[in-house]
Amino acid sequence: MRIVVADDADRVAQEAAGIVERFVSASESPALGLATGGTMEGLFAELVRRHRRRGLSFGAVDAYLLDEYVGLDRCDPNAYRSVVHRLFACHVDLGIGSLHGLDAQAPDLGAECTRYERKVRAASIGLQILGIGSNGHIAFNEPGTPFDSVTRVVELSRQTRGDNARFFPADHSVPVRAMTQGIATILAASELLLMACGAGKASAVARAVEGPINDSVPASAVQLHSNVTLLLDPPAAQGLSASSPVGGNQILA
Ligand code: F6R
Repeated sequence: MRIVVADDADRVAQEAAGIVERFVSASESPALGLATGGTMEGLFAELVRRHRRRGLSFGAVDAYLLDEYVGLDRCDPNAYRSVVHRLFACHVDLGIGSLHGLDAQAPDLGAECTRYERKVRAASIGLQILGIGSNGHIAFNEPGTPFDSVTRVVELSRQTRGDNARFFPADHSVPVRAMTQGIATILAASELLLMACGAGKASAVARAVEGPINDSVPASAVQLHSNVTLLLDPPAAQGLSASSPVGGNQILA
């Protein structure tokens, strides 16, 4: 596992964009896995900037979303497909039909999860971007999720709903359910890039990286993957013990 501690959240976004740019430029038909959430906003802005200023093209990319709320309209501004469209896809040359996600309006959500799991596996994600919840979740795999889990409908924890309430208007509550790729689905990607910023992530990051690998910290599953980069700002890295990182870690200041 490579651990990169960048100077601040802006640098985290730039480093992440550099990794995405290298991946997109090196593959003929890149399958890129995207996360959503506040941490991703800087990355999306930087990718849009590189597209506008340097002509970074997403024309050959197929992008796959990790998860989606259940109970929001397709066009709700907080539906994850809407978020990614608004912050990224509509500003770049991603092809029509090249942004893939879960349809939370499907009549049979279980069947929709099965369809999407097959689609993601068939795509073979080359680079999967991840955020991390303050409770250690990745995508919407909450604590207690088995590592062999696949795409399915889940209940969101009280902590996740509380954390995400900031995105919703005061008179709207955060959905109780979501659809998410499973941990096994995520681990099948060739490369993982996990980004975390802010002191609120420090404990989750430390437990994910240095703690035991178990389902009480879903993000600890990334320790099982052979090609992982963690990109952190200093507050998110503050719980890591630089003197005794788990074997193979590289801490760059
Ligand atoms: C959402 C997702 C989540 C977020 C995580 C962190 O697609 O994958 O796991 O990455 O909840 O969210 P922020 O960045 O808002 O703290």
